[in-house]
Parts: sequence; C-alpha cells; structure tokens
Amino acid sequence: MLAAQDLYCCPRLPEAGIAQHLQLKGWKLILAAQDGPAQTSPSAGLQGQVGLVWLDEPSSPWLERSLQCLRGLRSPGPIQWVGVLPRQALEQSVWRELVINHLRDHQTHPLSCEALDHMLASAQRRACLLQGGGALTLVDDDLGMIGQSPAMAGLRHQIRKVALVDAPVLISGESGSGKELAAQAIHKQSRRATGAFVAVNCAAIAPALIQSELFGHERGSFTGATSGRAGLIEAAAGGTLFLDEIGDLALELQTNLLRFLQEHTIQKVGSSRTLQVDARVIAASHIDLASAVGTGRFREDLFYRLSVLPLHLPPLRERLSDIPALARHFLRTSLAGLSHTQVEGFSQDALSALLAHPWPGNVRELQNRMRRAVVMADQRLISAADLGLPGPQHDAALALDAARCLAEREAIEVALGRADQNITHAARLLGVSRMTLYRLRQKHGLGDYPIAA
Ligand SMILES: Nc1ncnc2c1ncn2[C@@H]1O[C@H](COP(=O)(O)OP(=O)(O)OP(=O)(O)O)[C@@H](O)[C@H]1O
Ligand SMILES: [Mg+2]
Repeated sequence: MLAAQDLYCCPRLPEAGIAQHLQLKGWKLILAAQDGPAQTSPSAGLQGQVGLVWLDEPSSPWLERSLQCLRGLRSPGPIQWVGVLPRQALEQSVWRELVINHLRDHQTHPLSCEALDHMLASAQRRACLLQGGGALTLVDDDLGMIGQSPAMAGLRHQIRKVALVDAPVLISGESGSGKELAAQAIHKQSRRATGAFVAVNCAAIAPALIQSELFGHERGSFTGATSGRAGLIEAAAGGTLFLDEIGDLALELQTNLLRFLQEHTIQKVGSSRTLQVDARVIAASHIDLASAVGTGRFREDLFYRLSVLPLHLPPLRERLSDIPALARHFLRTSLAGLSHTQVEGFSQDALSALLAHPWPGNVRELQNRMRRAVVMADQRLISAADLGLPGPQHDAALALDAARCLAEREAIEVALGRADQNITHAARLLGVSRMTLYRLRQKHGLGDYPIAA
C-alpha cells in the first residue's frame, strides 16, 4: 500500500498489538462514531473504502453501536465491511444476521495477522473496483460505449470510419438503444470534436417554434420577436448538429433542411439574407424513415441525402452478451456517491432475469432498473425482485441449461468479435475446430458464415 488508507473501525478499535500491526501495514485507523459520520474526515480518492467491525464481546450495546455505524456512516463511497468477532457471537442470531447482511467476510478470534491482512486486502480490492479505481476500466475505449458483442464491435468500427468524413449520418434504432451516445461518439472522434455538439429533439419543440429555433430569426419577424436570435444550426457552426427524432419534422421544415444540407446555407426567419454555416448533421429516428417516405410523411430526397452513412443500433435483446457488462457499469455509476448502501453486486438469479428480459426500453431501461435496484435492495446482492423482474421460473436443471447455453453463445460472440468475424481465428481462440464453430453459430442463430473463412 503506497499511501495511508482509511480503515473505519466499529464499535471499537482493535486491540493495541493488532492496531500497531495495521498501522505498520499502512492503514489509518478511524473510529467510526456511533451517531453518523466518522470522527475524522476521511481521505477520499479512488482507493475504495474499507471498514472493520472489531468485537471482543458480543454485548447488546456493542451490537446497537455496530448496526448504527454500518447503516449510518457517511463516507465518500460505499464501504466494504469485514469483521472480527468472538466465536460465541456467531451462536446468536442477531450477530449472525449482522454478519450475513452487512459483512462481506469475517474471521473469529484468535486470528493471525496474516489472515487479517488477507481479508482486508481482498475487501480493499473490491472497494477499489466498485469505486472505479484500480486496474478495472469498464468503459471499453474512448467511444464511451460498453459492450463487446460483435454488433457493438462492428458499430465502433463504423463510428470510427464515419467520423473521418463530413457527410450526414442517419442513425436508426429502437428507443433507448444508444443513438445519441453513438452520435456523440462520432462527434468526439471527428475533426469537429473541439466544436459544439448541439442536440435538437425535433419531437419536443412546438411546431410553431421549430423554424425559428433551428434557423434563428430577425428582430420583429413575428409578434414577440423583440430581438434577433441565432438558431441552433448556427450554434453548431464548426461542430455537429444532432437532429433527434427527425421523422417528426414537418414537411415544410424538411424542405428548408434539405436546402441546408445541399448548400450549407440558412435563412433566418424574417430575413432574405443567406448565411453560410459549416455544421455536420447527424440525424436519428426510432421510426423507420423508409416507410415514412412510402406513406408520404417524409421527403424522399431528404431521406437519401441524410442516409449517405446509415448506422443501426441493434436492440439490446439481440446482444445479450453485452448485458452483464452494461449492468455492472450501471451498478457502479448508480452506486457512486451513495453512502447508505450495502449493495455490491447482483445475484445469479438477478443475472438470469436480466438475460431473460426482452428489454423493450433497451439500454435506458437497464440503466433505470439498475438505479431502482440500488435503492430498493436490502441485501448485498441485488435480486431479480429489486430490478422489478420476475425471478427464475424454471426448475434448477432448466436454469442450468439456459445458463450454459447463454455462456456458450457469449463465448462465441466474444471470440468472433475479437477475431473480426474470422472463423479460423475465432475457432482457434475457442479451442474448437472450424466445423464445430460453424455448427455452433448455426445453433445460436449467429449468422450464416461460409465454412471456408
Ligand atoms: N453501449 C452503451 N454503453 C453505455 N451506456 C449506454 C450505451 N448505450 C446506451 N447507453 C446509455 O443509455 C441511455 C440511453 O441512450 P441514448 O439516449 O443514447 O439512447 P437513444 O437511442 O437516443 O434513446 P431515445 O430513442 O429514447 O432517444 C443513455 O444514458 C446512454 O448513456
Ligand atoms: Mg435519443
């Protein structure tokens, strides 16, 4: 341990010999007050917070004090509690409950310094991971998008390519699938990264206002226009204009937008002057724009102009292997800053429920369920019920079978992603023959690849 690391102790500090040993090992012992905050101000940072319940005798006042500390201590992040207790304490149900519900590990007296060091180091590693420090980086790369499924690997590849040019991009995908995140990633990867990213939700602006919101207006151009104003397109000059829900744009505005895309010029409301604006357009829609063209709701010429570079965000149910990593990511972000929580992960049942759910609201739904679960959970591990999902409904054998099948599919997807869809390479990674991998792909409905890759 390089710098001294806080170790919250309750209900009392360890005996002198042990305390001295811990200090030599780099722990700064803080007696956690029974009525809330620690007695000294904790040194925050990314080291993760560790607490030690040290008990010499299992009396009721000590139990009360310990519980108050475990529930009420404020710290910069979630604390990983471990405990050292007399053996007879574990014969009492109240202490057993405390251990089960609040501690991630425990030892009984007499214990060796080595065993104590081991337990604290393990808690520290875990606290560090939960707090986002240490070696673990869950955001995969600079695109800020979680997920290693072939679909996500392909998407990242496409994003990097389209970021190199200035042509319009049309992003399709169900609600909550990550369209805006993908648009931001394109912007950040592009030469326009230092310019503005201006997001406009075409469905959320009143039809009467959208013309002047987008194109700006001159003073006196309509009742109430007491001063001239630049529009959102102009605000995106040198950067990127993200037009969300473009399918909701009125036909008249579609014409004006088409002119901007063709000539890179705009006319403010009430002005006859044309203004040159250099903004890249990325549009998104959760409705199928091609069918909107078919029904006359969307201009065909605008559709073709926008869809020079189409990107599709696959729904979450089609990339199951991304769910565990996304869930861990949202668990970590939901826990950040929460001190009154003992949550540190999710149970196997919760994971099975996450994998079985059809995710109509896609990644946003997963994010919201995880936020809710962190608040609702009473235990260290989030359950399916905390997520608002049905628990396991099959018998154990079926569940095991489903888990095996999912694990197999996940391994295949990850290997193919790493091998850039090269069957020979992926088969080598998985330690199976090409023929076996070909058969497994078919079994899991993972596409139809030629045997000779
Ligand atoms: N791959 C991902 N990794 C991490 N976070 C993600 C990922 N995909 C989506 N999110 C998060 O999920 C939420 C929804 O994503 P986003 O707003 O980009 O979706 P959307 O397709 O634009 O949704 P809508 O159609 O409802 O506007 C956001 O908080 C976003 O940061
Ligand atoms: Mg969006």
